[in-house]
Amino acid sequence: MGIKIVSTGSYVPDRVLTNFDLEKIVDTSDEWITTRTGIRERRISEGETTSDMATEASLKALKGKNPDEIELIVVATATPDAFFPSTACKVQSKLENRKAVAFDISAACTGFIYALYTADSIMRSKGIKKALVIGAERFSKIVNWKDRTTCILFGDGAGAVVLKESEEEGILGFDLGADGSFGNLLYVPSVGSNEEYPFYVRMRGNEVFKVAVRTMVESAKRVLEKTSLSPKDIDLLIPHQANVRIINAVAERLGIEASKVFVNLDRYGNTSAASIPIALDEALRKGLVREGSTVLMVAFGGGFTWGSCVVRL
Ligand code: COA
Repeated sequence: MGIKIVSTGSYVPDRVLTNFDLEKIVDTSDEWITTRTGIRERRISEGETTSDMATEASLKALKGKNPDEIELIVVATATPDAFFPSTACKVQSKLENRKAVAFDISAACTGFIYALYTADSIMRSKGIKKALVIGAERFSKIVNWKDRTTCILFGDGAGAVVLKESEEEGILGFDLGADGSFGNLLYVPSVGSNEEYPFYVRMRGNEVFKVAVRTMVESAKRVLEKTSLSPKDIDLLIPHQANVRIINAVAERLGIEASKVFVNLDRYGNTSAASIPIALDEALRKGLVREGSTVLMVAFGGGFTWGSCVVRL
């Protein structure tokens, strides 16, 4: 038996914050942001919590199916509603599910790949038939809106996939890793540290950029090797949506042509753990991939963490 992504869903708040809006908040310009990042606008929660967005994305992914069939809920988030209960427990309650094991995963922007890996492993080892894997973030709450070097980058949203036991294999392979020695280049302190509240995203963008490109390329190459696939076997590359220059550099080094690279960060910015599942859902809805397509997902984030996964839809 194998495991397959059988359906997807996503949710972003209605409120759009454009680069022009940001020009009124910090000393920046649409031209600077577009040229350096590719981002034109992002969505900002107007009261929707992370678990609200995660639940909306999940309901879309469930497509009217009974939520009680779900035996496992894993939410990747760096912006949970609460320290506890976990966002996954809140989603379980909002879905009125009474049976799932539910917990959160913390791996920053790589969170969705880590969550997929965890759910896939648990399903295989414990014989679980159906799981919900979600990436959901409300980064607008943890960026310093006075810091132009970070507040321009992030947005809010959620994406979800339903994983199901299947006859065909849909999860072809993973490559995951971490290097905590880079922790101080990109982080958000919390109550266990000695840093003072409020806790905001701290980032040394230029250094993060270089490690991100190198790490994503290396990880993607390793997962292709493990799955005995070559870049030409990939129908669509879905990279974490942080910066279009990072995406272009990764695609070029992997030898994947631009027409096979999914980009939506111009509309959503970096939604951290939500970026890949939102992108996968959009790619399916736009018909860029369909049942049988081979998709390479690759992410990078604070930690540093990285991860790649090849799926056959
Ligand atoms: N608007 C206008 N100017 C800005 C600015 C903004 N929003 N943010 C920074 N600047 C200025 C800097 O102050 C600096 O000015 P100086 O030359 O007078 O000192 C100049 O622009 C260049 O800054 P730098 O940080 O070198 O720019 P960059 O080309 O590295 O681009 C990022 C900055 C953040 C866009 C880029 O480094 C990046 O995307 N890094 C990766 C970040 C990321 O993806 N993090 C999440 C990973 S999951």
